[in-house]
Parts: sequence; C-alpha cells; structure tokens
Amino acid sequence: MPKRVLSGVKPSAEMMHLGNWFGAVRQFVELQATEDNYIFIADYHAMTTVHDAKQLRANSLEIATQYMACGLDPAHTVLWRQSDVPEVCELTWLLSCVTGMGLLERAHGYKSARQEGRDVSMGLFCYPVLMAADILAYEADIVPVGEDQVQHVEMTRDMAERFNNTYGDTLKLPAYRLAKGALRVPGVDGQKMSKSYGNTIGLFEPEGAMKKKIMGIVTDSTPMGTPLDPDKCTVFALHTLFPGDDLEELRAAYLSGTIGYGGAKKALLTKVLDALAPIRARYDELKRDPSYVADVLREGAVKARLVARRTMDACRLAAGFADPVG
Ligand code: TYM
Repeated sequence: MPKRVLSGVKPSAEMMHLGNWFGAVRQFVELQATEDNYIFIADYHAMTTVHDAKQLRANSLEIATQYMACGLDPAHTVLWRQSDVPEVCELTWLLSCVTGMGLLERAHGYKSARQEGRDVSMGLFCYPVLMAADILAYEADIVPVGEDQVQHVEMTRDMAERFNNTYGDTLKLPAYRLAKGALRVPGVDGQKMSKSYGNTIGLFEPEGAMKKKIMGIVTDSTPMGTPLDPDKCTVFALHTLFPGDDLEELRAAYLSGTIGYGGAKKALLTKVLDALAPIRARYDELKRDPSYVADVLREGAVKARLVARRTMDACRLAAGFADPVG
C-alpha cells in the first residue's frame, strides 16, 4: 500500500538552491515512483518574509516550474499552491486552540528571530501551526525534509496528539524522512545553505554566476602544496554530495597536499554543472510554456482540496461544529 508523502518548499526566493535539491526535492522525486506524492508551494509560509504581491506570485510559479524541472511529474505527484486550499487556514485555527504558546516559543525560527532582535509577526510565531495544518490536512504518513525542518514535524506530532487526546482519534501522526548524506548542505560561507543567509548556489543560475559563487566559497588561506583537512572544508563537503569513485582520490589529494582549494573548486563546478544539466535543460523547456505549469497547479489544487476538505469535515465534527457539508 503506497504511503502518503507530503512536503513543500517556500517561494521566499525565486530560485531553489542546492540545499533544497539535495535535502528535500530529490527525495520528493525518488518517492513519486512508489508512494502517493503530494507536494506543494508553501506560499502562505513565504508571506512571513515576502510582502510584495507581484514577487510572491512570480516566485510561486517559478518554484512550480522548478519542481517539474527537477523531475516531479504531474502524472505521479499532486502539485499545488498552498493558498489554493484555504482549509489549511481553518485547520490552523483548530490546532492553535489546542497548542500551548510554550511549544511555539521553543521553535528554532522564532527563537533565532528573537535573538537577532528582528520584529516577530504573529505569522512567524504561528508558522509551525500552519505547517502542522499542511501536514495533517493531507493525512501524511511521511514528510521528506532537510534537517532544519525536523523540529516542525515533531511539533506537528505533538499538536496532532493534543487534538486527538482532546477530541478523539481524528488526525494521523506523520514521520519525517531525511535524505542520506545531505541533511544540512553548507552554503558558500560554510553556514547552512539558506535563502536568508544569502549564501546559496541556485540550481538555475547562469553558468557565470554559478562559477563566481563556487570559486568564491570561503576557505582558509593554506598555501598550495600543504596538506588540507577535507573534513573541515566546505568545498569538500559539497563534493561529498556527488558520490563517486573520485571522492576517495580527492580525499587523498587533500591529505597529501597535491590539490589546492582552487583546483577543488574547479572540479566542484564541473560536477555541479554536469549533475544539473538535465534539470536545467528541462527548466528552459518549461519556461516556454507557463500556461502548462499554471494548469498543473489548478488541477493539483482540486485534488488536494478534496483531501483537505475531508480532514476538515472530520475535525469540525470532532470539535463540535456544524455537521459536514454534502
Ligand atoms: P524551505 O523552503 O526553507 O526549504 C525547503 C526544503 O529544503 C530543505 N533545505 C535544506 N536541506 C538540507 N540542507 C540545506 N541547506 C537546506 N535548506 C533547505 C528544507 O529542510 C526543506 O525540506 N517550512 C518549510 C516549508 C513547508 C513544509 C510544510 C515542509 C511548509 N509547510 C509542510 C514540509 C511539510 C520550509 O521553510 O522549507
């Protein structure tokens, strides 16, 4: 029996990056072959940072195009925009009423916003509740994500348990799934690759821009000819995302000092461009037909909404609201 897979990417930037691809999207593509795949564009979540309507709309269509370029096939994956299914907002409220502030105060996103002295909107504070509503509305068994989202899936389980303990068994408890070896892809500065740190390598960047970024990866200033420590090097960490026979050779070259950072970066650029070539070609094709992408999202929303409506009906009934419609 196929399992229900549910996940999403936030259109807070116009382009997905290597972290999204290795940490999450590659899992989505892999799982669509055997499981019941539901993948969406988390545009309500992006609203915590993007307040330009034109930008948000354009980014959402971009992410949809990029999902398909990466290999998500509408014949095997339901693809839709989060905001096309308003039931998730309704479920967010029901979950909010059984969720303690203490739980949300422990969320990493909220804690770091507070520590950095950023303004915290209610949207950012309630972000994990909306994410729980996404997962629970679609009766997900498995949620493939990168490491930074694990806490959110665990909080989702807490919220579902709380709802079920209060109102009876209604919501299905999900489990997260991590990609092997790509839990936390580093960015060009060595921190986690993230749109908000401005350290990303985008999947669809022009070759020149990609080269500039990879050649600019921060390293120490060990001179050429001196042994290098592969386990402390961001360039090497990015190489490990592409398993192959050459990895052991590269490790040996690092340790013996026969390769410098410049050489390792050039080899990385070649690997990245080779690995992404099919995806980039598909992207160029899809960009020629934006109405196809819009149609896929529309059809996906109809399918997704049926599932979310069913969950909402069950939750409304359980929590003491009117009988389900229809
Ligand atoms: P977002 O858009 O920040 O990231 C999308 C996915 O990419 C993964 N990821 C990474 N994995 C490894 N290394 C990295 N450097 C890296 N950067 C990003 C993320 O872990 C994520 O899996 N809150 C979510 C979107 C969301 C969602 C959901 C996900 C909303 N509702 C329901 C799953 C289920 C987010 O901000 O992802």
